[in-house]
Amino acid sequence: MSRTRILVTGAGGFIGHHLVRYLVQKGYWVRGADQKRPEYAATDAHDFQVADLRDPASCRAAVGGIDQVYHLAADMGGIGYISAQRATIARNNTLMNVGMLDAAVAGDVQRFLYSSSACVYPHHLQTSADVVALREDDAWPAQPEEGYGLEKLFAEKLCEYYRTDHGLETRVVRFHNVYGPLGTYAGGREKAPAAIARKVASVRDGDEIDVWGDGEQTRSFMYIDDCVEGIYRIMHSDYAGPLNLGTDEMVTVNDLVDLVAAVAGKRIGKQHDLSKPQGVRGRNSDNSRLREVLKWEPRISLKKGLQPTYRWIAKQVEEEARAAERRAVAAAD
Ligand SMILES: NC(=O)c1ccc[n+]([C@@H]2O[C@H](COP(=O)([O-])OP(=O)(O)OC[C@H]3O[C@@H](n4cnc5c(N)ncnc54)[C@H](O)[C@@H]3O)[C@@H](O)[C@H]2O)c1
Repeated sequence: MSRTRILVTGAGGFIGHHLVRYLVQKGYWVRGADQKRPEYAATDAHDFQVADLRDPASCRAAVGGIDQVYHLAADMGGIGYISAQRATIARNNTLMNVGMLDAAVAGDVQRFLYSSSACVYPHHLQTSADVVALREDDAWPAQPEEGYGLEKLFAEKLCEYYRTDHGLETRVVRFHNVYGPLGTYAGGREKAPAAIARKVASVRDGDEIDVWGDGEQTRSFMYIDDCVEGIYRIMHSDYAGPLNLGTDEMVTVNDLVDLVAAVAGKRIGKQHDLSKPQGVRGRNSDNSRLREVLKWEPRISLKKGLQPTYRWIAKQVEEEARAAERRAVAAAD
């Protein structure tokens, strides 16, 4: 086993859970920290602290004896959640980020990776579906997503200040939408690919599902295996500035529905709901700098990544339906 000891915060969440598995498979000793354990599978972490990381003492305890920190914990969700909970999200995440950076400095951590988001990019560059892909330098002058995006942009700057003022070696990753098995797929915090997969799995061949907005908004989506490999490569690179981590395969949300329907083998109609938030009109990742720094970029196509994702979500939906049936039978008895 490598002697490097790693902390992954947010290890009870989607990306954190997969990252823990990836790092353990690479031979690292890994501690996870989160306010909850992973919902859908047991963690592979050697040690797991259930803790509220808004509390500075919990941050210090999590960092004890650790060499490298992947800080992924955040209060976050899809566009419905982040549009409705700005104060809570900005407050919770700021408390966690400051607590974790302070603990990392006090604990003499060698490297600290912060998970930022494409939500830091300015609105005025994302008003058309046929959008120009976003380069890292486009984030300033700033006009990010209110609440969640602004807090991410501020934390990116905090990482820079802690590096220059306190000598903490920081890395900053700007994720573009990530999807895959074991991600949140229901409850209001799920993102578009998971929400669409759940809706398609829940209806019959030939039925309709509701789609937020007119469905012509564009995005790019990165499969979880590319995501964890990219995070690891960025942590080990010499580049300290923010880096996009996403694919540049841009699709409309309507295309996404069609792709999921094809994977499911169903004909699916679309009922567009214009009253629902749809976020920016268009967003894509410019990977020039990522390619330059890593000599690598995400390569799993959406068509390929949606297959295991859909299979997993369809299985959850099926199991839930069976459990509901069993409850109904038990209640009738
Ligand atoms: N998934 C994406 O598409 C995406 C896109 C952009 C950025 N990101 C960022 O990547 C990181 C991981 O995202 P994810 O998709 O795995 O999200 P997730 O919600 O599945 O995981 C985040 C985890 O943070 C934990 N957390 C929240 N508040 C906490 C607290 N007070 N104390 C301890 N733990 C707390 C949650 O319990 C959760 O398990 C986040 O920082 C997120 O902002 C994700």
